Amino acid sequence: MAPPTVTSDSNQTYERMKEVKQFDESKAGVKGLADAGITTIPAMFVNPPEVLATLKPSPFTGAEIPTIDLAGVDSPDRRSAVVKQVKRAASTVGFFQVINHGIPVEVLDRAIAAMKAVHELPAEVKAPLFKREMEGVSLRSNMDLYHSNAAYWRDTLLIQFGPVPINPEEIPEVCRERLIDYNERTLPVKDLLLELLSEGLGLSRGKFKELTFGEAVTLSGHYYPYCPQPDLTIGFRSHTDPGILTVLLQDNMGGLQVKYKEGWVDVKPVREALVVNIGDLLQIISNEKYKSVDHRVLASNCREARVSIATFFNPGAAENMYGPLEELTSAGDPPRYRRVTYKDYMHKFFNKQVDNKSQTDYFRI
Ligand code: OGA
Ligand code: NI
Repeated sequence: MAPPTVTSDSNQTYERMKEVKQFDESKAGVKGLADAGITTIPAMFVNPPEVLATLKPSPFTGAEIPTIDLAGVDSPDRRSAVVKQVKRAASTVGFFQVINHGIPVEVLDRAIAAMKAVHELPAEVKAPLFKREMEGVSLRSNMDLYHSNAAYWRDTLLIQFGPVPINPEEIPEVCRERLIDYNERTLPVKDLLLELLSEGLGLSRGKFKELTFGEAVTLSGHYYPYCPQPDLTIGFRSHTDPGILTVLLQDNMGGLQVKYKEGWVDVKPVREALVVNIGDLLQIISNEKYKSVDHRVLASNCREARVSIATFFNPGAAENMYGPLEELTSAGDPPRYRRVTYKDYMHKFFNKQVDNKSQTDYFRI
């Protein structure tokens, strides 16, 4: 006699939890599944039909995400033009790319290669790095494995570079030197971007620095391996970044998309460029003058894995209260958000049920 089919919801939940736990305890990530040569993805990765229905080619050209040339930004004329471009992008699509940012292309290429190398280490070398704690260096797949109803096809190496300096010995040797170099070189770019964004709001150049923005630095090296069924799952689900500012280096594979009007626009790989986007806290402190916009990454059945490095810049003073800045509100434009500490905001980010609600909405007045 055939075994009874599982139909009740609680049985399905139980089966799913079993699969999730098994995946988590494998400490091999989705790279482990791809390497095992699977031809169908485990059920826990299958996304709901309302998500799958949106995985269509983008009808937009990609020009909606502007590329801004930072060359000569120290001359007053150039600077005001650049501030205008940055302000426009930050207050509309929430994303832009920058070129002539000062980081040599070899440093970018080496950082991507180093990140690829660490994800491609033998599984038994990587396994001890798989952990849920965020301090130091950690590997993980699906940070919200136990809070979401569908997993995504991506593994991530996290390196916590600041505010507490990392012990370099903790970083795997295959990528240590190159990622430290890349990180050090992104810091002046971050400082410049924060100045330009501050000026774009009519604030002093150093305002965001005074607020400790950008002192906390989390580097996330993402690895999106070959996926046999890219139309059933996603590389990374739609989300906004919780912090202040994200600077992202992507390889030339493509797949990152930003919510735009009623659809999705591709962030086309631009050689030598860095992708910049506004996080929730910057939307909050700017009283929504700058926009933290939903984005996602498609899964792909290309044999070559996609690699990206996202650096999340956040406030160093985790216990300070952040809310709409007084300078940016008025009787006609009252604060739209409650004040919140960075620590509490992040706590909610990591513990909230994955739903369609944007996290900023929980703090809306
Ligand atoms: C992120 C993110 C995009 C990418 O890490 O928050 O949106 O291209 N990454 O990996
Ligand atoms: Ni993101």
